[in-house]
Amino acid sequence: MAVTEQRLSTRVLVIGTGGAGLRAAIELAEAGLDVLAVGKRPKEDAHTSLAAGGINAALATMDPGDSWQQHAADTLKESYLLGDPRTAEIVTRGAALGIDDLERYGMAFAREEDGRISQRFFGAHTFRRTAFAGDYTGLEIQRTLIRRTDQLDIPVLDGVYITRILTHEGVVFGAYGFDLTDGTRYLIHADAVILAAGGHTRIWRRTSSRRDENTGDSFRLAVEAGARLRDPELVQFHPSGIIQPENAAGTLVSEAARGEGGILRNALGERYMSRYDRERMELSTRDRVALASYTEIKEGRGTEKGGVWLDVSHLPRQTIMQRLPRVYQTLLDLQMLDITRDPIEVAPTAHYSMGGVWVRPEDHSTDVRGLYAIGEASSGLHGANRLGGNSLIELLVYGRITGQAAAAYAEALPAHPRSAKAVTEARAEVDGLLAADGPENVRALQRAIRDTMTEHAGVVRNEEGLRTGLSELAAIEKRMEDVGVHPDIAGFQDLAHAFDLRSAALSARATLEAALERRETRGCHNRSDHPGMDPALQVNLVWSPTTGITRESIPAVPGDIASLMEEVSTDGKLAE
Ligand code: FUM
Repeated sequence: MAVTEQRLSTRVLVIGTGGAGLRAAIELAEAGLDVLAVGKRPKEDAHTSLAAGGINAALATMDPGDSWQQHAADTLKESYLLGDPRTAEIVTRGAALGIDDLERYGMAFAREEDGRISQRFFGAHTFRRTAFAGDYTGLEIQRTLIRRTDQLDIPVLDGVYITRILTHEGVVFGAYGFDLTDGTRYLIHADAVILAAGGHTRIWRRTSSRRDENTGDSFRLAVEAGARLRDPELVQFHPSGIIQPENAAGTLVSEAARGEGGILRNALGERYMSRYDRERMELSTRDRVALASYTEIKEGRGTEKGGVWLDVSHLPRQTIMQRLPRVYQTLLDLQMLDITRDPIEVAPTAHYSMGGVWVRPEDHSTDVRGLYAIGEASSGLHGANRLGGNSLIELLVYGRITGQAAAAYAEALPAHPRSAKAVTEARAEVDGLLAADGPENVRALQRAIRDTMTEHAGVVRNEEGLRTGLSELAAIEKRMEDVGVHPDIAGFQDLAHAFDLRSAALSARATLEAALERRETRGCHNRSDHPGMDPALQVNLVWSPTTGITRESIPAVPGDIASLMEEVSTDGKLAE
């Protein structure tokens, strides 16, 4: 069958059309640069649209004492000192501008009666600094960015799956991919590439990501182009994912439910957070709340289905309808449960990749010249525990900065590197998979990876489990040599699944190897065989398939911010 290949050319290619990608594309277009954005899902349905409870900026609309310095201090303290102080400063200083940008594009924030942007509490913030739009904040941001994208006539290709980033001698020159519906190939030449294709939390069984999103695409694309990953083992388990139905297990119940006054109870009716963080209770940090729920369930105080209860039924109905409409609707749709009357059965769910592609703090450039990474694909801000609401602001701040950096890089590029060999290899890779007719089923292997990660690299880990995980993964990788790939009349999804599987396997390997190396308990990373924090491991772990893991030191926190950080305590941390 003849293969159609479309050739496109742009100054900057953005891979991923969620909030990060669109924000970067807007910056480039506003600067007058030619930009093209491509995404595997329809942009209206990008993962950002699921982000629920809010976006952080020290606007001080509710609590006048707030400041960007305090926001930075909270972020770094709760990162268990693995967050990069320069990144934290850039994000928290730039946060107000990020919100201004959204307002400029017409975003409908929730407001107080006098017009101030409302801000609510999210876990472990010193002040109310989470701005929101009900619990549809991500959806509203995505819509706002799409409107602006349309106004600027930015070309966006939906349903295009990128298989490879093209490089010549360590310099980016574009990407290769195919159309998910008709299989048309795309050879896209670009001077710079911004990778904004999310994280890797879909490689766990219970996850707040939907099928086929956050499958580790960014990690594989970046690593195969020559970049490295930082702290892939640091994965945030959000305390409240629903348990049923099975095909929606992990779907998020926003932290806003606890921010508005929701209460957690075990099957005995105990408000168990008093055992783990008496002061902050349900508004403790996510790592602590997730670990507390995990412990209750593991020690036999969970529900029959293996969960705990999150109850908002004592809140005024109006609060639920106005501030938690998505939670209300989701539970009604999926379980016929009315949360104004009944508690919600929840358990920890893989939610966010706090590690990601290694980038420089000032502009999110990677090890590969002309390649940038932003949003959940990148790393640096969150360390071992992310504050809820920080991801949305990070993607806006770095979307702007990285857009500017990529524009400057593209403008200054003296020559346009190209490599026929790289293009031939990219084509051959797709051809090879399309010809694969082995007995192994791609979906079954994806499931096997999810099982391995869930059993051996979940909320609590240990050496034996991680080593077992690595040997199971090696067996899966072997089976991957015999897959069959069968696009059909419905489209080329099976080919995409095969690439997703490769991404999942690479991300799983990076995660397991780094988790093994981090022989301590810190934030989200609980090692039952190493229950304490090891000062020697107050470093980032940087991974690549060729170098394995290297340790990278983290600059000291500047004095003015350090003075606002309370001591990082390990109270409430377990380990079995
Ligand atoms: O719970 C939530 O609404 C999630 C927010 C976040 O992850 O930032």
